[in-house]
Amino acid sequence: MSTEVVILAENLGKRYFLTHRRGGRSQYTALRDVIADGVRNFFSAWLFSKDRSRWTDKEEFWALREVFLEVKKGEVIGIIGRNGAGKSTLLKILSRITEPTTGCVGLKGRVASLLEVGTGFHPELTGRENIFLNGAILGMTQAEIRKKFDEIVAFAEIEKFLDTPVKHYSSGMYMRLAFAVAAHLEPEILVIDEVLAVGDAAFQKKCLGKMGDVAKEGRTVLFVSHNMAAVTQLCRNAIHLQNGRVVDSGPAANVVNRYLASGQSDAATVDLRDFPTRTGSGTVRFEWGEMRGSEGEARRDFSIGEDVIVAFRFQAGAGFHERQVRLAIQLRTSDGISLCNMADMDSDFAIKDFCGAETISVRLPDVRLYPDTYYLSLWVGSITNIDVYDWVRDCLSFEIVGGGQLTTRTLPRSAGLLFWTPTWTRLPAASSPSTARSFQVPTL
Ligand SMILES: Nc1ncnc2c1ncn2[C@@H]1O[C@H](COP(=O)(O)OP(=O)(O)OP(=O)(O)O)[C@@H](O)[C@H]1O
Ligand SMILES: [Mg+2]
Repeated sequence: MSTEVVILAENLGKRYFLTHRRGGRSQYTALRDVIADGVRNFFSAWLFSKDRSRWTDKEEFWALREVFLEVKKGEVIGIIGRNGAGKSTLLKILSRITEPTTGCVGLKGRVASLLEVGTGFHPELTGRENIFLNGAILGMTQAEIRKKFDEIVAFAEIEKFLDTPVKHYSSGMYMRLAFAVAAHLEPEILVIDEVLAVGDAAFQKKCLGKMGDVAKEGRTVLFVSHNMAAVTQLCRNAIHLQNGRVVDSGPAANVVNRYLASGQSDAATVDLRDFPTRTGSGTVRFEWGEMRGSEGEARRDFSIGEDVIVAFRFQAGAGFHERQVRLAIQLRTSDGISLCNMADMDSDFAIKDFCGAETISVRLPDVRLYPDTYYLSLWVGSITNIDVYDWVRDCLSFEIVGGGQLTTRTLPRSAGLLFWTPTWTRLPAASSPSTARSFQVPTL
């Protein structure tokens, strides 16, 4: 690998303003706002009409913060982190698709980026025309593009559809062509965001192979992925982003291992054998844990009101002979608030004939929590609660991503934690308490 620096980013930051509009039908509205707004409306709508900012809550939000990055020619860097960590934002800044709020980027060479399916593709143009268009955007001559043309078409396996407008392509075909163009048009820097999420296993394998070739040719690759095996296999180094900041960097295998062990990963299944944050005697130990949907499929993203299943396995060491163990699960929010402690006994569940290993499934029904990330800790101890055998903290996590069947309104986490749908009833006037004072309209 050369020592020539091709990407130099200093103090990169990206700020967004999140707007929570009050009063809209589909937006969050707190009860106190309904009352306050009602009074305002009644007296002085005109007063506020010219100043809409008074009707909105603007929240400053840093998607990226103080990121320094130096990438050498021929380096293949993996960028990992949870959903919303800022990975795509970083790639967009590096590809000059968006401007940073702070800091600056220096780039040496042509950058081809594959950020979303078919970025840079024109839907009305055919596959053939888009290949030429993208080549031209990358600064290549017609002759250079023609030289690569057959290779691109063969890689994308779209020969038959070459003269069809890409808007008629399936998402897989779109992706194949987009990847083939980005990888074959010899950019000096190739920026790839989560391509492996689309396409079948064979295509994913082919993409990984191609990215490896690109790297071998001495070109630089930045690769964002949630596929930890691919990151470890393909990248020499990696950085871990968390809440917009770089929290770890170094050889890819080490960064990936620390990321998985920290419970910060987006993995639904977690190997708990070497999980670091745990206490207890270790006479019984958790082996793995998994978040599942109601059909038993491994997943971490849920809508409000869905059933969330936690499955795990634990095993006793050789000298352990107790026939009973007690289990508990602790649930907390992303800002550390303990939400509940679910003990097996409260659900009339007990293991009375334990003989060394158990696999358990716990269904949390109708989870009515606001969108956020929630963390689970697993506990196994003696029936007396005195001995803690194993207590693995924040080892599993799941995401509530939206209102699902229950609501389409926006639900900022700052507005609450529990999504309740109480019964609302309109009462006749006669049912007012006799002592109720009538509402007095103050004179202006
Ligand atoms: N245009 C925008 N306006 C407001 N917020 C934004 C905008 N674009 C991104 N964000 C926010 O910035 C944060 C970082 O987003 P980004 O897309 O970089 O995350 P990511 O690490 O790529 O996540 P994922 O793994 O889900 O792709 C998120 O909280 C996202 O909601
Ligand atoms: Mg992203």
